[in-house]
Amino acid sequence: MNRRRRIYEGKAKVLYEGPEPGTLIQHFKDDATAFNNQKIDRIDGKGVLNNRISEFVFLRLNEIGIPNHFIRRLNMREQLIREVEIIPVEVVVRNIAAGSLSKRLGLEEGTALPRSVIEFYYKNDELDDPMVSEEHITAFGWANPQEIDDMMSLAIRVNDFLSGLFLGAGIRLVDFKIECGRLFEGDLMRIVVADEISPDSCRLWDIETNEKMDKDRFRREMGGMLEAYQEVAKRLGIMTQNERPVGSGPTLVQ
Ligand code: TMP
Ligand code: ASP
Repeated sequence: MNRRRRIYEGKAKVLYEGPEPGTLIQHFKDDATAFNNQKIDRIDGKGVLNNRISEFVFLRLNEIGIPNHFIRRLNMREQLIREVEIIPVEVVVRNIAAGSLSKRLGLEEGTALPRSVIEFYYKNDELDDPMVSEEHITAFGWANPQEIDDMMSLAIRVNDFLSGLFLGAGIRLVDFKIECGRLFEGDLMRIVVADEISPDSCRLWDIETNEKMDKDRFRREMGGMLEAYQEVAKRLGIMTQNERPVGSGPTLVQ
């Protein structure tokens, strides 16, 4: 396994060269980080759950024609994906005030927004992913206006679809982040959804109790992160029979 060429290692995933040109293998690690690596931990089994949840979401997106990089899951921790040129902009869609928006605008967490709001962040660990506007994105050449339009319409479609999907599972989609990439097919290029969609990249609240079922459990040291991710998987109908994501439970690394 280690003879494969490693293309890129991020905080929660590793990308390896794929079996054919134009493909990559996306490997989900158990590492959890928050606040730009200030908080680092290993949550045994998180990678397995995110691999499965992200597979489920991307398959559903494929079914309704939202273009993305997913080809198929290979094993418990890995999936085969199309190689894309990642646009260094994180697209966040928010339905309910939480996290950095609540802080920035003084909105109480849980306040419904008048409409869904899209924000952009420049993907740069050293700068802690600063929020940017379309002006910055075009001025610095990260994406052109057409690509920004494409990213926004993908993000809105993902939001509408995921909101309904999670609602059916008794979960409120508070906000989420996607990354997009340029997929080159011959002379054609299109913008597709890439990376992952999982409880690491979404805020998910139980519809009845508002209990957090996402990475905020880790960011805010609430505990029960793995159990919450398991519950999300269970409610989506994933990993029901005899499948356990292993592990001796989370260990806190100070
Ligand atoms: P925020 O409130 O911290 O800006 O986060 C908004 C949404 O984006 C939330 O669902 C978590 C997700 N997110 C990521 O996936 N990666 C990140 O680096 C950050 C800051 C947020
Ligand atoms: N993804 C970022 C980090 O790992 C921030 C976060 O998710 O809170 O540091």
